[in-house]
Amino acid sequence: MSGFPADFLWGGAVAANQVEGGVREGGKGLSTADIFPLSEREKGGCFDRTWDQILEAAEDRNDSGYPKRRGIDFYHRYREDIALFHEMGFKSFRFSMSWSRIFPNGDDEQPNAEGIKFYHDVVDELKKYGIEPIVTLSHFEMPLNLTLKYNGWTDRRVISFFEKFAAVLFEEFHNDIRYWITFNEIDATIHIPLTGAGIVKEHTENLEQSCYQALHHQFVASALVTKLAHEKYPELKIGCMTTKNLKYPATCKPEDCIQWLQETEVDAFYTDVQVFGEYSYTVRKLWERKQIEIQEEPEDARILKENTVDFVSFSYYASLVTSAEGAKKEKASANLLVGEKNPYLKQTPWGWQIDPVGLRFALNQMYSRYKLPLFVAENGLGTLDVLEDGRIHDSYRIEYIREHIHQMELAIEDGVLVLGYTYWGCIDCISASTSEMSKRYGFIYVDQDDQGNGTLKRIRKDSFNWYKNVIASNGEIL
Ligand code: BG6
Repeated sequence: MSGFPADFLWGGAVAANQVEGGVREGGKGLSTADIFPLSEREKGGCFDRTWDQILEAAEDRNDSGYPKRRGIDFYHRYREDIALFHEMGFKSFRFSMSWSRIFPNGDDEQPNAEGIKFYHDVVDELKKYGIEPIVTLSHFEMPLNLTLKYNGWTDRRVISFFEKFAAVLFEEFHNDIRYWITFNEIDATIHIPLTGAGIVKEHTENLEQSCYQALHHQFVASALVTKLAHEKYPELKIGCMTTKNLKYPATCKPEDCIQWLQETEVDAFYTDVQVFGEYSYTVRKLWERKQIEIQEEPEDARILKENTVDFVSFSYYASLVTSAEGAKKEKASANLLVGEKNPYLKQTPWGWQIDPVGLRFALNQMYSRYKLPLFVAENGLGTLDVLEDGRIHDSYRIEYIREHIHQMELAIEDGVLVLGYTYWGCIDCISASTSEMSKRYGFIYVDQDDQGNGTLKRIRKDSFNWYKNVIASNGEIL
């Protein structure tokens, strides 16, 4: 017997903007994800665009230069893809519903019926196989019009547009979808403002101030849709989602440990607000030191306090190290942050430090803090795969996942309540940071290169059958 509960939600995760394509179909509007060109690995990720670049991309009808506009054609191939997920035995599938497919401009009066129908078709297909849908409302995109007209989440009016979007989806899908996540990696608003909150830097006087203001609006929006769900559809479970930026102190030197403690508290504040319903003293102090003043309406404190989440979900890919002398140390990356290198860890070709034990650490750290069910909403290895005689022998991916699942099992044995594990990029998709196709995560290979050439054929990698056995044995056979 494995340590996993019988109803453990094994599965996979993707996001609309990285898989769907169909950018000009079904009445969809452009989203903030649709304006990013390919960015080569050597140049690092591309999460930012100038105002002129945004305007140029918005006008550009030649979609081939923007990989997220084509995705992997999930828009037309979702039946085939979901059948493959079923073949692996998925119990759950995490995906997002594109806001700009439902409200093409974000501030439209009426929702787009064709967009709603598309997601009904997807959900029906999942239900056919008994796969539990887990839906993220906002995953690294919003209608581009909200950026052009309102500078994204810096404008408080966006809260009501988001409430309307959520209200439509809850009403349409409350019978079929139990688990909802309001914002993917909500901390992204501070680290990558255009992707996280639709903010154009040039249109802010003080970028940091604007980002925290936008984040405040997102927290209030998240609480308001949680309130709506709890009041109108009590069977729904609403979760928050953060990037788990796990860090270790470089040494036991007290100065390093204080540095670590303070950074860890700041990294935790995003989830703290959504679980405890208030800002921690650490973040209030941080704002004071930086002379950041957030406009909070009189009702906000109550809204946050009364409408906290039911579960905490997070992504975990890598860990970092921190010390009092950080500036002088060699650097390494995790998905949204750069920190110090850990000499005990290996890295992916994209420089992310691989640390399975860190997952056990993270689960214990978060469960002890929040005492709410946890969900590993993302974890995965993005790397280069080579086709050999039409097959992918990805033993490196199997090893990565095996070790992480083993550590998750140890955390469960430690007493942590974990609802499920949705492996990121269960089918190869467009990279969030670089828009590359060659940074592959999937159990399923998609025949498409960085330029969009290829048949889009789906091919089972070795990890496909391996994960199938993991699920079939409820984590016993790793
Ligand atoms: C997470 C995002 O930060 O990391 C995903 O939620 C993303 O959207 C994943 O794809 C992996 O990042 P990347 O840049 O390798 O695609």
